[in-house]
Amino acid sequence: MSIPDRPYPFARLRRTRAHAWSRALVQETHLSTHDLIWPIFIMEGKAQREAIPSMPNVYRVSIDELLKDAEKAVKLGIPAIALFPVVPAEKKDPHGSEALNPNNLICRACRALQASQLPIGIITDVALDPYTTHGHDGLVVDGEVANDATVEILVQQALCQTEAGAQVIAPSDMQDGRIGAIRQALEQAGHHHTAILSYAAKYASHLYAPFRDAVGSSKHLATQGKDSYQQDFYNTDEALHEVAQDLREGADMVMVKPAMTYLDIIHRVKTTFQVPTFAYQVSGEYSMLELLAMHQQNDSLPLQLEAHIAMKRAGADAILTYAAPLIATHILNTR
Ligand code: PBG
Repeated sequence: MSIPDRPYPFARLRRTRAHAWSRALVQETHLSTHDLIWPIFIMEGKAQREAIPSMPNVYRVSIDELLKDAEKAVKLGIPAIALFPVVPAEKKDPHGSEALNPNNLICRACRALQASQLPIGIITDVALDPYTTHGHDGLVVDGEVANDATVEILVQQALCQTEAGAQVIAPSDMQDGRIGAIRQALEQAGHHHTAILSYAAKYASHLYAPFRDAVGSSKHLATQGKDSYQQDFYNTDEALHEVAQDLREGADMVMVKPAMTYLDIIHRVKTTFQVPTFAYQVSGEYSMLELLAMHQQNDSLPLQLEAHIAMKRAGADAILTYAAPLIATHILNTR
């Protein structure tokens, strides 16, 4: 694009900025409630709504409360929710076996949502970290997460969730080849309409810490992080190879994660592939803005809007965000 020469004072760039109405007219980026996906932490029990100290205004909720949140999401025009289970310590083991229990928390939540007939998309997380005692996303063999053995389990986990009613399978584990293996298994089982949202470019970020508190997977990760399977934040090209591979293997939508510190990656993925590209404003990004607002004794909405608009500007089609209800409420109240 060539930039036209617009010399002062014939051009005063402040003219269109002078009024709220003229700013509205020239606004280039738009954020709709349809761009939002709300990640929700679910726990065992009834009538539970437990605060997460490192994530202001985010809760772990039991299935009955989840149904209320899902109803709220529908009212707010949020098209889909993403479920993350908080698995009780006694159900965790080194193999993450509970992930394959057709009656586990996530499967019961999917069935309850299906039974409610609420018009909302159900996205489930495929990875073993909520279920393993070591907190890694897969099987640990000789001190390393074993790729191929992990993929076999992830395939079973994806089938288990699909059979319980999940409509979008979202593998967040970063093993090689898992999208292809899951897609093939879904096709073979006749689940032709189950979509795959791949966490394609997921970086080994320090911004996941509050999430790990929320699901209780932080304990052992302190000794060995996820650098051997999540991406190195010094790299860009690698993200494009991850996305290309996941698309070829059958992903319908791809995701970049985290968001705010990876806007260049979102932009490059969207412009290169022109496929549905989602961003995940992860727990640490969310909390840093909320904590700043609390510190300033201000509303967090302006900070959150600025961050979400940046993701849209970069090219994100939709955003997984804990601020989804906050932002959707604002959008509905101001239209
Ligand atoms: C793990 C998973 C993580 C998140 C989503 N799925 C954390 C991790 O990789 O350790 C992070 C989300 C967030 O920080 O909000 N499979």
